[in-house]
Amino acid sequence: MKNLKLFIIAAFGIALVFSLTYKNTVSSQESLTKDSANSDDQNRRQKFIPVGIPESELPDGQNSISTVTEAPTGFDNLTNGFDPQGPPFDTINEDNVVPNRSFNDNRFIFEEVELIADGVGPTYNAQSCRECHQNVVTGGASQIAEHRTGRTDNGVFFESLGGSLIQSRATHQNIVERVNFEDGVRTFRISTNTLGNGFIEAIANDTIIGIRNNQPASLRGSIINVPVFEANSFARIGRFGWKNQHASLESFAGDAYLNEMGITNPMFMEENTSSGVFVGFGTPFDPVPEPEDDGEDLRAFANFIRSTKAPSRGPITNAVTLGEQLFNQIGCNVCHVNSITTAPPGTRINGGAMTVPNALGYKIIHPYSDFLLHDIGTGDGIPFLPTPEFASTANQIKTAPLWALRTRNRLMHDGLTFTLQEAIARHGGQATAVTNRYNNLTNAQKNRLLAFLNSL
Ligand code: HEC
Ligand code: HEC
Repeated sequence: MKNLKLFIIAAFGIALVFSLTYKNTVSSQESLTKDSANSDDQNRRQKFIPVGIPESELPDGQNSISTVTEAPTGFDNLTNGFDPQGPPFDTINEDNVVPNRSFNDNRFIFEEVELIADGVGPTYNAQSCRECHQNVVTGGASQIAEHRTGRTDNGVFFESLGGSLIQSRATHQNIVERVNFEDGVRTFRISTNTLGNGFIEAIANDTIIGIRNNQPASLRGSIINVPVFEANSFARIGRFGWKNQHASLESFAGDAYLNEMGITNPMFMEENTSSGVFVGFGTPFDPVPEPEDDGEDLRAFANFIRSTKAPSRGPITNAVTLGEQLFNQIGCNVCHVNSITTAPPGTRINGGAMTVPNALGYKIIHPYSDFLLHDIGTGDGIPFLPTPEFASTANQIKTAPLWALRTRNRLMHDGLTFTLQEAIARHGGQATAVTNRYNNLTNAQKNRLLAFLNSL
């Protein structure tokens, strides 16, 4: 108790010093009261409310190519054949289509280290996409985890001031975000793989609905509709991020450019705050006016990811084959879905903003995910949006795609599990019956199942 008191006093002291320092340095700025922070929260919430309902994106039977083939795989820094120089596929912003750029040019932009003069900060997490997406080649996952916090009052979730994402770095010593003592809901979210995600973007909405409808009721996942910003916020079924918070790679890139790197762009014009305090252009902390990027980089990031091959498999031994049979028999594959076919070339996706190109259409992928949210007892307590409608997402996490599993040594959304056995043991909730079946396997059977997982 004594320590707690000391801590509160210390925290109060730090807050006081912080606010005094802040007032001294940014005297001309409007007062950054809770009210303005609340209206920022309001804006963020509004922004993520999609327009309309998702289109089905089902084949219309008039496709030039009708053969379904396996998606190319490999961790080799080579393109999957997607042609960023091909015909304009950004059908809504025709005047603003991506300039001709090769795969390597786009990769370079994804790898590029940005500086304060480019707009990095004032609060941010890293200087380049590659810093967190690099293992074993650019675009993969990494050990870097983000920090998210908030608090629950009478069952209602409130984000920390300035949003649930606590940026871990800042460009000035006085504005580094720190966690509020009261904000007891805390989690890490580890960087995910983006290799092969162009194929995931090319999965039709109705394909995801079909997977869901085929799941037995006790294992059935949830869908959330999210806005596609390059399609005037038109609704699409979310599939990217631990909470399925995005449906399009360009929208994810816009979000990441701001929230990870502090670079505002046409999709995200409002600069990151320092725990709700405005520290953007006009204050001493940010020399660059909005938007800090004109939107070209977003398309380069998205097109780089769209050009990447899907993760490849390790050697397929006898044990691996038998292990996958057990994986299917005990029901792991209900959520970790083995095989999905992308929409045919020519299908309009992303609320009409993109047409599926030949390189990504009618491809069979093996992501070992259903791209649905599930409550397996690991929920981090932070909903997609802090509104009653999304309250249930607080305890749900997207089925982690198991492709590229053998390149990761920190598992689950928080990166706090280090072995496959422990990852499986954490599966409760909707996965309880399946986990029990795993526990009832013989040691020899478990070893085969693990051999299979180690081949992914
Ligand atoms: C500080 C680390 C960090 C940086 C820098 C970063 N990311 Fe990420 N990325 C993450 C984390 C963590 C997640 C998972 C976040 C979540 O779902 O809450 C993620 C997820 C993603 C995803 C979704 C993948 C999936 O299927 O779940 C995409 C796409 C992505 N990032 C693109 C980018 C791009 C483009 C950039 C550069 C503008 C970037 N990221 C910069 C950490 C980072
Ligand atoms: C009800 C759906 C469901 C079932 C059934 C299920 N999983 Fe999962 N699995 C998930 C979800 C959701 C996550 C992510 C949880 C998190 O990160 O908190 C996950 C994560 C994992 C991970 C960690 C992957 C990573 O990259 O961190 C492994 C490994 C895994 N599951 C293996 C299995 C195995 C093996 C089985 C069968 C014994 C199984 N799962 C059954 C939903 C399921």
